[in-house]
Amino acid sequence: MATETVIKVRDVAMGFGSRTLFKDVSFDVARGEVFVILGGSGCGKSTLLKLMVGLYQPTAGTIELLGIDGINPDRGERLRLLRSLGVMWQSGALFGSMTLLENVMLPLEAHTALPRPAREQVARVKLGLVGLSDAADRLPAEISGGMAKRAGIARAMALDPPLLFLDEPSAGLDPITSAGLDKLIKDLAHDLGTTFVVVTHELQSILAIGDRCIMLDKQAQGMIAEGDPRRLRDEATHPTVRAFFRREAEPA
Ligand SMILES: Nc1ncnc2c1ncn2[C@@H]1O[C@H](COP(=O)(O)OP(=O)(O)O)[C@@H](O)[C@H]1O
Ligand SMILES: [Mg+2]
Repeated sequence: MATETVIKVRDVAMGFGSRTLFKDVSFDVARGEVFVILGGSGCGKSTLLKLMVGLYQPTAGTIELLGIDGINPDRGERLRLLRSLGVMWQSGALFGSMTLLENVMLPLEAHTALPRPAREQVARVKLGLVGLSDAADRLPAEISGGMAKRAGIARAMALDPPLLFLDEPSAGLDPITSAGLDKLIKDLAHDLGTTFVVVTHELQSILAIGDRCIMLDKQAQGMIAEGDPRRLRDEATHPTVRAFFRREAEPA
């Protein structure tokens, strides 16, 4: 089957002030793929996600999303991109004073002219997709961490974006809840053809859901690995990559 490239990142560099975080970052993401960004704390994973969704401008390189220049889109393209991207940030905050249903309805209010009953119906469908039909009228404080993450994904999916970006979706979740979330991501990619870019540290999760991954490294100021995570686990020779995938102590 022919693969369609939906994200094209070329020679991207980023830093804050005089400090270079990473450079020469290049990769493609294909439609329907679960693409994972790995790396230690502070290596720039969240920053790379923000570059990809247009929140930051890179110091060098190009980023193309759905054939659109993600760095300098014109007005019409920017709007198209905004509607095509769903994002769940690391902090993942839901609005505490709103029910889950109202939280998921928010992007529909901002980006569509749908009347309220239609917005509500769409939001209920999204909550159903993540297994939260029965919790639609609950407040964020009344649900578990795993449910809150799922509600965050439902909100990110409100506009049926072809691209979903998730920053550490399973952080802070117990292994069973985390496995449930992995299954959800895998199913959505498979059933809806949604493309996922997921930042995660969790090795189990990477091996379970990742079709392809890259690993960033702070010291190397860039990518130290790219490929199928299972192959990297079995074949990587870079000491940091090996250590991560095999959970060995890194040589000093
Ligand atoms: N807006 C910003 N201004 C200055 N420094 C930043 C900013 N955002 C991130 N950083 C710094 O860049 C580095 C990488 O951050 P981040 O991308 O959040 O890492 P990761 O998600 O891999 O843990 C950190 O040292 C962080 O303090
Ligand atoms: Mg981060």
